[in-house]
Formats: sequence, structure tokens, C-alpha cells
Amino acid sequence: MIYFDNSSTTYKKPKCVIKAVKKALTKYSANPGRGSHNLSLIASDKVLDTRINLANYFNLPNFENVIFTSGCTESLNLAIMGSAKKNGHIVTTMLEHNSVLRTITQLTKTHNITYTLVNPNKEGIINPYDIEKAITPKTYLIIVNHTSNVIGSTQDINKIGEIAKKHKVLFLVDGAQSIGHEQIDMQKDNINLLCGTAHKGLYGPQGVGFLLINNTSISPIKFGGTGTNSASIIQPTGNPESLESGTGPTPNIIGLNAGLEFVCKKFNKINLKIKKLSFKILNYLNSESKIKVYTTNTKSGVIGFEVKDLDSSEVVNLLNNVYGICVRGGLQCAPKVHEFLGTTKQGLVRISVSYFNTMHEVNYLIKSIKNLLKIYLN
Ligand SMILES: Cc1ncc(COP(=O)(O)O)c(C=O)c1O
Repeated sequence: MIYFDNSSTTYKKPKCVIKAVKKALTKYSANPGRGSHNLSLIASDKVLDTRINLANYFNLPNFENVIFTSGCTESLNLAIMGSAKKNGHIVTTMLEHNSVLRTITQLTKTHNITYTLVNPNKEGIINPYDIEKAITPKTYLIIVNHTSNVIGSTQDINKIGEIAKKHKVLFLVDGAQSIGHEQIDMQKDNINLLCGTAHKGLYGPQGVGFLLINNTSISPIKFGGTGTNSASIIQPTGNPESLESGTGPTPNIIGLNAGLEFVCKKFNKINLKIKKLSFKILNYLNSESKIKVYTTNTKSGVIGFEVKDLDSSEVVNLLNNVYGICVRGGLQCAPKVHEFLGTTKQGLVRISVSYFNTMHEVNYLIKSIKNLLKIYLN
């Protein structure tokens, strides 16, 4: 099989990540922060290393404010639920993932929250001033999907961060698709809440994500054991304990650290390769009269398109069953962007490229799509 579904989860993983997870499982799979024996202390050190490296990478001053979660969905739930203000207003965009849209919909019921969804332009770019115009006296939070998981467009978070700061509104960035492709500086970009995940652009394992908290505090949404102050039945208040109840995914956290190191070392090489491969795919798709491409520019390797007269799921199934190629169809968990593009009924086919794809695979993908159009559209 040839894999072009990397924005869902990257495959393959670097050898250093596999080695790190294996070592964690075989050599020090004890519970960090839950004992004073040597193995627990080693595991704690490894988790702390990852916390420090993530804080440094995103320029977050306090590593204690790096919170581990099960993935970007949980990070977004924690950030949005944990900062919820009764009767407040949220400004967000039509490009958001359901992990944002469904969470704020829940808040309309539990916290009487209202929200505004800002439209992008035809290229999928949000005008930061449209965000500013949507701010009301009740607005306490701006949420922006940095890079769209449907069409790959990337937002100017630096400008939006400036606007958030000017209006004293919290700024939350969903970095699920941009991390590993864009440099994010939480201080320069005025980001209060940054949500990310290991298993996409950081080439780490599934099952671990993170929320980085800058210049604000949020309430827990999960309660339980933290390994500290066990005599008290009250949730501790300091970070990270207050927001990290229960045994965490230690081997995955260690794998995330290895993935982060891999990406830091090869950042330019990774992104140059993704750019080259994506450019070739985009050039080809744009040259086909029977294909409509919805991506104009992609730094993260996400390309959305439709084949005229074919449902996206038919294209996905043909590519899988006839040509052995894995891509994604449907709505990619982001229904509002499809509403905006007018693609709700048929969905879009999404190709997403990683550092581990090759030009040979891209050539085979192009040849297969050409063949598919010739056979199935005549
Ligand atoms: C933009 C965006 N946000 C959030 C998520 C959820 O991430 P996770 O799968 O790590 O929960 C995804 C996953 O595809 C995504 O693309």
C-alpha cells in the first residue's frame, strides 16, 4: 500500500520514535510521579524532559504549563471547557474541526455561550480584521485552526494574536496540522492556549497530545489521582498536576519527545521535501479538466480536491481497491468548511504528504489518478 493520509496520522514513523517507545516499554515502564523507587524516578525524568523540550520549542516560559493529554481532541476540550465563561461569546472560524465545533456547541447548552464563525476567502484564508470585527463586549476567547485539515490553508496567527492582545481576549490555536510545518512562538504570537498532538507532524505515536498554557489559568475537566497530596480529596491547584489526573501515556510521551527531536533536527529538510512533492501533485491536479482543486498553497502537504461526477468516497475506494493507495474522503470532521465550499454532499478527496513519501510514490499516484479518470469517467 502507498500511504497518502498523513494529515490523519503520519505513517511511517522515524526509527528513533519506534526505538524510544520500545525502550520505554521494556526498560522503564513504571508510573511517573507515583512512587519514590528508581524506575518511577527515571520515568518521571523522561516525562519532564519532554515537557521542557515542548516548552522550549514553542517558547513557553514555564514548562509546568505543558499539559499532556490523549491527543489534540482532548487538548481542545480541556482548553475550551476549562476556560469557559458563563454567557460569554467566542469568535472562531468556519475552518474548525469538530473537536472545536462540538465542544462550543456543548457550551451553548451548559454555559449559555454564543459564538461567531468567521468565513475565510476563496483560498481558505481568514482576514484577521474579520476576526476583530466579530469581537463583542462579551467575547472572551478567539479560537483559530492554524492550518486547515481539509484544504491546507494557514492563518496569520501572529496578526490574530496581536488583535486578541489588543482586545484582552484569550487566544487559542489549534496546531494539529501546522505543528512540524510552521514555527510557532507562543510569546511573539500572543498565544494563550496552544493545542497539539504527537501523531501528525511530529511523527510520534498515537495516544498523546499536549496543551500549552501561557499567561492564563484554566480549570480542570477531569479529576482524580495525581500522585501528589493523596490525603486530600480536593483536586490540587498547581500545574501540571491540577490538569493531569490519572496515569498518563508515558511510553507515548517518550515517543513524542523523540519525534520532536527528529523534527527539530530536520525541520527544513522535511518541509522542503513536502513542498516539492505537494507542488508536483498540485500541478498535476490543476492540469486536469475533470478535477477541481480546493487547495491553493500548502506547506503542510494537505491537498483537497474533487473529481467531477464522482463522490469523494468512490474515488477513495477506487484508489484503495484498484491502485493500493490510501487517501481520505468525506468531510474530514470539519463540516462547516464544506458548507462554505459547497462540498457537503460529495465531500473532498484529501491527499496528504509526509517526509516519508517519495517522488516515485507521487509519480505512481499521478499515473493512478490519470488511469482512474480514463476508465471511470468515460
Ligand atoms: C485541525 C484538527 N484539529 C484537531 C484534530 C484532532 O486531533 P487528534 O486526532 O489528535 O485528537 C485534528 C485531527 O485530525 C485536526 O485535523
